[in-house]
Amino acid sequence: MIEHIEKVFGLHGEGFSCLLRINEHGLLELLHFGEPLSTADAEAFITKPGLGWGESVLLDENNTASCADSMPLAWSGTGRGDYRESPIEFGGISSDFRFAYARVLDKPEPMSTLPFAKGKSETLKIVMTQPGAELSLYFSIFGGVLTRHAVLRNTGKENIVLTKFMSSLMDIHGEFDITTFDGGWISEMRKHKIPVSENRVVNESVTGFSSHRHNPGFLLSEPEATEDSGIVYGFNLIYSGNHYAAAQRSLQGFTRVIQGISPSDFIKTIAPGEVFESPEAVLAFSEKGFSGLSEKMHRFVSENIIPEYWKNRERPVLFNNWEGCMFDFNEARLLGLAKEAKKLGCELFVLDDGWFGKRDSDKAGLGDYSINKQKLPNGISGLSKKINSMGMEFGLWFEPESVNEDSDLFRAHPDWILRDDFTPLKGRNQFLLDLTRPEVRDYIVENVSAILDSAKISYVKWDMNRHSVALGTKAHDYIIGLYEVLGRIFGTRPQVLLESCSSGGNRFDLGMLCFGPQIWCSDNTDPIERITIQENLSYLYPQSTFGAHVSAAPHAQTLRNTPLCTRGNVSFFGCLGYELDLKHLLGIEKKQISEQIAFYKKYRRVFQFGKFYRIKNGWQVTEGKTTLAAVFRKILSAAPGYEKLRLKNLDKAKVYTFSTFAQKLRVGQFGSLVKHVVPVNLNPNGFILRTADKFVTLPDGNLEFKASGGAFSAGIMLLPLFRGTGYDKNQRTLADFGSELFIIEEAEK
Ligand code: GLA
Repeated sequence: MIEHIEKVFGLHGEGFSCLLRINEHGLLELLHFGEPLSTADAEAFITKPGLGWGESVLLDENNTASCADSMPLAWSGTGRGDYRESPIEFGGISSDFRFAYARVLDKPEPMSTLPFAKGKSETLKIVMTQPGAELSLYFSIFGGVLTRHAVLRNTGKENIVLTKFMSSLMDIHGEFDITTFDGGWISEMRKHKIPVSENRVVNESVTGFSSHRHNPGFLLSEPEATEDSGIVYGFNLIYSGNHYAAAQRSLQGFTRVIQGISPSDFIKTIAPGEVFESPEAVLAFSEKGFSGLSEKMHRFVSENIIPEYWKNRERPVLFNNWEGCMFDFNEARLLGLAKEAKKLGCELFVLDDGWFGKRDSDKAGLGDYSINKQKLPNGISGLSKKINSMGMEFGLWFEPESVNEDSDLFRAHPDWILRDDFTPLKGRNQFLLDLTRPEVRDYIVENVSAILDSAKISYVKWDMNRHSVALGTKAHDYIIGLYEVLGRIFGTRPQVLLESCSSGGNRFDLGMLCFGPQIWCSDNTDPIERITIQENLSYLYPQSTFGAHVSAAPHAQTLRNTPLCTRGNVSFFGCLGYELDLKHLLGIEKKQISEQIAFYKKYRRVFQFGKFYRIKNGWQVTEGKTTLAAVFRKILSAAPGYEKLRLKNLDKAKVYTFSTFAQKLRVGQFGSLVKHVVPVNLNPNGFILRTADKFVTLPDGNLEFKASGGAFSAGIMLLPLFRGTGYDKNQRTLADFGSELFIIEEAEK
């Protein structure tokens, strides 16, 4: 609900209120963003500045308290006495917008260049002006989330040169820690938490894209906030380009939080009559700690960001040939893999890189769309028909934003690449195409569309493996160009499942999720690493947006040898896929994979769309009467104590059954200790044990009982862990990197 009472505005969403007022100087003040309140409470939040703060620049010389620097603002100017960070800069010229009028709209005004949140909402539009320019500030409520963006219109006769234009500025009273998610290739989403002080903390990307260096999403939390209690704010941006956010505390005790496009290399000339739109910023408030915040963000992404067609729609279990084959494949090899994948239960076969041009390595072919007939004599359409006839859907990899020097496209249009005045630099042997040029966008749209229409292709992996070195001031227009391309291709093919990817999670953002419902989280598929990556993504994004695959062990990037059950258990909490050479699997491994896939399919809705909770050493998902929980072991210590499993949000009065998804221990993993398991003295490196290892697994830690939801909230006792006293099927023999999965179902009365 949005209330507008004279110069006070009350925005009331689920579990939060935002109170704003236009003060006597025509500036927009943020009175409150937090707990739900009545608009009538606004008065109680107005700052009482007394005689002012000394050393102040005054907006009214007769009022010693009229200093913008000490006001809690929701927009500010430059050169007018507020020395805190400004959301707008005109390249050295002051800016001073004052209130003109406000309107309550029953839906947001659509943006013309950028993706935005959709669905049921209410919007407050506040218009402020200064000579020659009009600024519209939009505040929208989507359930439990507030969004903001700004539009600047040139109402004068001269060009405006804009050098900074943020989406949101909030002065929130209080002391906070800021949590950011930073990293790099195969090390995405490392969580860092530091106190916000008078020094500005910046979360920014300048690679041209949202980047894995600093995800655009971040959190502010009270120092005492925990997973389930205390105040936590979440912030994100519906944008895939260079982003910027900063937090800084003022002398007056306000934490100024600013979000928008990075001002680095940003210059926009706005001609008379033209407008410039900022991306939509997403803001959420929780009184229930980090989990309350995540729940709001998950709902917002699921209901207001991902494309309508894919809302709540189950995703297929896929097989991707990349890690198994890389560039080395032909039709026969692919069909062999597809046949095996189908037998295991996979529903979608994805052909990754290498199917076009002279693409036998990453040195050639990008930019070309001619099918590599040496590998695929029957083309994509021939291959896809054969795969379809096996009863599987077919998906294809594209990397349309780049070009190799060794490609027909580059030979024909060397001027189509983004470049500066220096020798063009390559990344992964490729240049970026200049998506600000209409002919480049048309080329991509026409070629990708032609391939998509040439066969039954129900899934696309849209990859992007190099970040800019020559985008400069074109960075924003590139992203607008990309959004146009994605809209033209997929807007008319909503049923194609689009998974975006950028060397893994190098463009994991809400902008990309507006076009396709899932993103490849990371090229790092080591499950122990994935626990960190997926868990940290879960602060801001629902698990239905995670592409999560089981790959080979030892793992290509860590050499870690992780049990297949852990590889499955981690990937279950996302959109499950398999990405390894199936030819090299043992019979017992294939059996285990088909059991995993059958299990996942049975509980797919719970895994993909259930409410997600971070619990001690693991994760929980709950949907309807079913809860699934996994605990992951990293390094086991000797003589571990008893462990309890504590679950969240079960009905305390109801009774639930508890069971385990049967674990399997490879007999070979015991080495010479196997004599404690079977009463024969076997050579750990001998033929018998090596052969037995291919066929024999031992049961592990299966437990079944009933208990009330109250007992699960308090924490139920699990079976003891392996303690060096021998094997017993009634203990949990989890070595390093082991894991377990539990099924908790509401019992029939
Ligand atoms: C990137 C992607 C991988 C794979 C390769 C293909 O690295 O992240 O998943 O598609 O490109 O070249």
